[in-house]
Amino acid sequence: MSPERLVIEAGAALADAAAQWIAAAIEADIRERGTCAVALSGGTTPRPVYERLARPPLASAIAWRRVTIFFGDERAVPPVDPGSNYGMVKAALLEHVSVPPAQCHRMEAERSDRDAAARDYERLLPERLDLLLLGMGSDGHTASLFPGSPALDERRRRVVPATAPMPPRERLTITPPVIAAARRVAVLVAGPDKAATVARVLAGPGRPRELPAQLALGGSWFLDVDAAAQLPGAAA
Ligand code: 6PG
Repeated sequence: MSPERLVIEAGAALADAAAQWIAAAIEADIRERGTCAVALSGGTTPRPVYERLARPPLASAIAWRRVTIFFGDERAVPPVDPGSNYGMVKAALLEHVSVPPAQCHRMEAERSDRDAAARDYERLLPERLDLLLLGMGSDGHTASLFPGSPALDERRRRVVPATAPMPPRERLTITPPVIAAARRVAVLVAGPDKAATVARVLAGPGRPRELPAQLALGGSWFLDVDAAAQLPGAAA
């Protein structure tokens, strides 16, 4: 992976670096195309990044009315549930910036017919996302594409129901074609519990069915020092 696509920072500097990179990418897309379609990740790692995007100086640097928000995955819980990715992003970012509500597309994973919810959401997605932010679990999953998942073989549908090995189990997720088509991908990983998997994903053989985060190897990776600790050449 080329050095400029691998950012390793300690502690809060990681969220600063990722937030600045995201803001620059959004501004560049708005300058070039007038709009930016961003799909955000859930989980805990990105929250401080969203919080930085929600306050000066970054919040005022982005033309939020030209931004459309999507999600890479969602759990089958109501938006007010503590496990909701939308709920986390709303509290950390959307309540603080002026993205028009009609341009914020929540995945309705809690609907009883999740397949219909997936098909409805797919119709909202642009052909190519301008920016896709992903995380990675310690098992190597990304979005809700888990190791061995049938969704990893999906080449036609762009959003499908998925099942996680940990609660909340029932989910919706984007599929590999959406990751492949995204103009920019950023992966944000932090914590010592991810270090072994980061080394397998970034330095090991290509096995995206075992390590779905390898679907994002073409993106920019933002790691904290702990998550990068087992990469070849990491400070002993
Ligand atoms: C989710 C995320 C998921 C997340 C990883 C890492 O819905 O949970 O989309 O892919 O990015 O599980 O989560 P943490 O950032 O909490 O470690």
